[in-house]
Amino acid sequence: MGNWDSFKDVYNEALNCKKCPLHSGRKNVVFGTGSEKADIMFIGEAPGYNEDIQGEPFVGAAGKLLNKLLNSVELKREQVYIANIIKCRPPKNRDPLTEEIDICKDYLYAQIDFINPQVICTLGNFATKLILKKNVGITSVRGKLFKVGGRLVLPIYHPAAALYTPSYLPSLEKDFITMKKVIEKEIKIHIEDEMESKEQLGLF
Ligand code: URA
Repeated sequence: MGNWDSFKDVYNEALNCKKCPLHSGRKNVVFGTGSEKADIMFIGEAPGYNEDIQGEPFVGAAGKLLNKLLNSVELKREQVYIANIIKCRPPKNRDPLTEEIDICKDYLYAQIDFINPQVICTLGNFATKLILKKNVGITSVRGKLFKVGGRLVLPIYHPAAALYTPSYLPSLEKDFITMKKVIEKEIKIHIEDEMESKEQLGLF
């Protein structure tokens, strides 16, 4: 955890952050959006063009699909919290670099701590690897529940991947149903793997 006393402090620091070179190309820091009391938190990768302009995560094509998936399980964006692992747009939407993730991740961990969601849904490979602290591919873990430092984590496909590869869509829809059932405690939870290492507990 960082040294912040409140969510607002984390926000203010992130908004003025110049810890990595991405700050120089950004129009806006994309901190996150939604309810600070959310039961579900979604973690994406990095802001894209539209997100950088609007200062809000998932407002482009992938965001429209995310909204649709949320609505399919009777949830609205305002009820969940949506953030990315890095808060500034990489040039030409390239993948985040390891150094950028390392520098930026404390903001995300603090967001998780203050929001204290029941379930964290990691969207795609980058967020899944970071949160599970495991070098796993999304295809092998999606739809399975993990516990990290006492928190439930459900990796799912990134909506942008489902736009690119429409055959992913049925799995994504299914995983949203799983997520809804988990928060409504409608299913007996099977934990695929429980990670309680000191390192992980220290982070969350
Ligand atoms: N993709 C992401 O991972 N995050 C966004 O905010 C938008 C697209």
